[in-house]
Amino acid sequence: MKTVATLVVLSIVGSANAGVSINNPFYCYSTDLIRPQVQMHATRTSYEAVRRTSVNPTVSSCTPSRFWFLSRHGGRFPHPPDLQDMFDFADSTIQEDIARNYDAGRTTLCRQDFEMIRDWRRDPNLTLESASLTTEAGRIGMRNIARRYQQFFPTILTETYDRQRFHFRHTRTMRTNTTIRAFASGLFGESESENVFFEDVPENDSFLRPIDFCPPFREEVANQHQQVAFENGPEFEEMMEEINRKLGFHGSNQLSVDTVLVMWEWCRFETATYFELSESEIGDPSAWCIPFSISHQSILEYYQDLGYYHFTGYGVRNQRLIQNLNCGLMQDLLTHLQSNSSADTTVRVFVTYSQMVQALMVTLGAFRDDINLNQHNFAQQTARHWKTSIMTPNAANFVVVRYDCADGDHDLVFLLNERPILVPGCDIQTGICKLSFILSRFQRFIGVNCEDLFCSSD
Ligand SMILES: *[C@@H]1O[C@H](CO)[C@@H](O)[C@H](O)[C@H]1NC(C)=O
Ligand SMILES: *[C@@H]1O[C@H](CO)[C@@H](O)[C@H](O)[C@H]1NC(C)=O
Ligand SMILES: *[C@@H]1O[C@H](CO)[C@@H](O)[C@H](O)[C@H]1NC(C)=O
Ligand SMILES: *[C@@H]1O[C@H](CO)[C@@H](O)[C@H](O)[C@H]1NC(C)=O
Repeated sequence: MKTVATLVVLSIVGSANAGVSINNPFYCYSTDLIRPQVQMHATRTSYEAVRRTSVNPTVSSCTPSRFWFLSRHGGRFPHPPDLQDMFDFADSTIQEDIARNYDAGRTTLCRQDFEMIRDWRRDPNLTLESASLTTEAGRIGMRNIARRYQQFFPTILTETYDRQRFHFRHTRTMRTNTTIRAFASGLFGESESENVFFEDVPENDSFLRPIDFCPPFREEVANQHQQVAFENGPEFEEMMEEINRKLGFHGSNQLSVDTVLVMWEWCRFETATYFELSESEIGDPSAWCIPFSISHQSILEYYQDLGYYHFTGYGVRNQRLIQNLNCGLMQDLLTHLQSNSSADTTVRVFVTYSQMVQALMVTLGAFRDDINLNQHNFAQQTARHWKTSIMTPNAANFVVVRYDCADGDHDLVFLLNERPILVPGCDIQTGICKLSFILSRFQRFIGVNCEDLFCSSD
């Protein structure tokens, strides 16, 4: 029965903020001891902020024998152009302007919030050189993920490294490199992880970064008109008015959408960057979260979700193209799940990007909503499955565990972020799938040439 409860948790967490839809202009961030918005930062959400570990290693009575892991890199610094925008914002007169508004009684900021904004300074150690790299919190988070999985599956994820048993592969970027090393150090310890062999990364990595090598896909998703329409729609407009009013900006002094989005970048970045280091359930406060009520964060979260939904989600018209992008990974997974030889690897670890984790969910048919997300239905979608804060926060990780059963038709368990997920067609109570079912369902990936299939609509 325990597992029934955990499968349900997924949707409860997803809809936890469903009731919070009314803006409170007097919201005081500093005195809010719950801060549900730390779980609403879309793909910048700290893993720890949304973590609800509910792995039940004995859900199957068979014997755990194979582990397949695909994750996104851990928390990172913003990319160069975003970081530059954030620096420009920090160097602007925004704090003085808000102080003038506060002194003139034009704001609805509580005193503590005002003082936090007034006294905020950006971390002097933060430079463009850090752009795109993994943060310390990102490394710690990933190391802890490895340790928890090891505790659940100690016979597969051994503390001793053996190149015959473990396969590690990342992409060309430094952040996946750093992340996979953090994962290895979580399993084997700092010094033993120095001996780990990481597979070479090919120049054209259509295996872990297929979207970079598929021009038809780029074309398919080039027009993000739903997201743009939402940005120009009534929810956004109202949010902009409310934020400006809260900070005391009127008429021609009003902040632009771009400025407010940079503010939110600071909020999301600072929250995630210190979360794993904070030893607090709500993380450390960030001054630039203050202007946003909880309902505003929920609008911004939807704005992000809408973009991903139409990029590597169910909103893409050519679904077959998305499903095929991960051909290489699906083939690797299916081969691994079928392997019988003691000479085969037992653990396969891949680190890539959020879009690939999302696309894989689409291939599997998980997190699908009955009604499409669009520019008009924000209010109806509060309990949606497609919530990137929950699906693909920093360090989002997808795991398949194979349990060997005597009759040869093994049990499979699918986990996302340490929670069981339901692949349609599998046992709705436990989430367990039979190997034979998965093999026949995804048969079209077996034995094909993925170089041909990954970018096709066949
Ligand atoms: C900046 O880096 C130095 C040296 O690593 C450290 O001592 C200091 O605390 C850092 N400052 C901030 C604001 O993080
Ligand atoms: C990954 O990082 C290590 C250690 O920092 C470095 O030696 C190695 O060259 C990097 N590998 C790639 C493929 O970038
Ligand atoms: C990688 O792709 C580029 C552009 O398509 C091509 O010119 C190059 O030969 C490829 N490199 C390899 C090693 O396949
Ligand atoms: C593994 O064993 C099963 C049954 O024992 C067999 O049907 C299957 O072909 C084997 N798979 C491989 C990859 O050898």
